[in-house]
Amino acid sequence: MSDTIFITGASGKLGRAVIDHLLADQNVSPARLIVGSRSPDKLSDLVEKGVTVRKADFDDTDGLSEAFAGADTVLIVSTDALDGAGTRLRQHRNAVAAAKAGGVKRIAYTSLPRPDSSKVSFAPDHLQTEEAIKATGLLYLLFRNCWYQENLFMSLPTALASGQWYTSAGDGKTSFVARDDIAAAIAAALANPPAASKTYTMTGTEALDHKAVAELVASVTGKPLEVVNLTDEQLAGGMKAAGVPEPIIPTLVSFDAATRAGDLSDVTTDVEDLSGRTSKSLKTFIEQNKAALGG
Ligand SMILES: NC(=O)c1ccc[n+]([C@@H]2O[C@H](COP(=O)([O-])OP(=O)(O)OC[C@H]3O[C@@H](n4cnc5c(N)ncnc54)[C@H](OP(=O)(O)O)[C@@H]3O)[C@@H](O)[C@H]2O)c1
Repeated sequence: MSDTIFITGASGKLGRAVIDHLLADQNVSPARLIVGSRSPDKLSDLVEKGVTVRKADFDDTDGLSEAFAGADTVLIVSTDALDGAGTRLRQHRNAVAAAKAGGVKRIAYTSLPRPDSSKVSFAPDHLQTEEAIKATGLLYLLFRNCWYQENLFMSLPTALASGQWYTSAGDGKTSFVARDDIAAAIAAALANPPAASKTYTMTGTEALDHKAVAELVASVTGKPLEVVNLTDEQLAGGMKAAGVPEPIIPTLVSFDAATRAGDLSDVTTDVEDLSGRTSKSLKTFIEQNKAALGG
């Protein structure tokens, strides 16, 4: 296997981790790797290793086609543009079109579970990106990533400080998965891709509701954590009162609505099957990050 692999979003956390796993665990030669970023200057260490680094900005369609030239497989890492104005979908469509124009054989993409029905506000961006990829007629690999364990850094420190964790997720469960486990699995799939197109649902090994997560956190930190169940409207009101910027509130509330609906509860073995390693449990994640989580 000597195909050339292109990773976008190379200076982001997931993109960089995929690159590191390709080089370290998958023994992919740096000569087979091209990586793209809006900030190629941040990747001089990869240049020193022999990796080709190119400027790749999904808002710059002409530059993108040039960037993808010579790549066989392109991993499109979804962007973080959540302005609600269609920016992210436009960026992804630009990337898909440039990959097709650049003559790549296979497009890989980081999506989310159940993109066709998920209540996550930006699920349609992922669904329509998947559809754009399928419409190219090229081979594809779709990695539908569940919530990172690291997302808990956004809610748990505040919750632990007050002892109360506000949610409208009810008893809906989430199969949190370590970002690095996803990266290791994606790297394995890119290094040894299946002959046909494939869709993976990238999850942790168990799905837990807020109460179970709170009990884990309390047992590890020794600090009590009460789950306070609210309606979506109450949660939104609480966020507004706490000073959360209003434009982002519907997106954040949609995460809880999606959890309540079970949209993040699927558990598969795809991550471990691909990576060949044991995924990090949520308990281990909490133990390892006790201080950062406010414990
Ligand atoms: N499953 C989850 O729980 C979860 C959580 C957070 C985010 N996500 C999604 O997964 C992606 C990767 O996660 P992460 O942890 O690596 O996030 P991150 O560190 O915030 O990275 C953001 C990524 O977006 C890329 N990007 C932004 N604007 C771009 C543009 N105009 N053109 C090309 N690339 C652009 C960045 O690439 P450069 O800076 O190198 O250009 C970077 O790779 C995120 O962007 C987001 O779509 C998933």
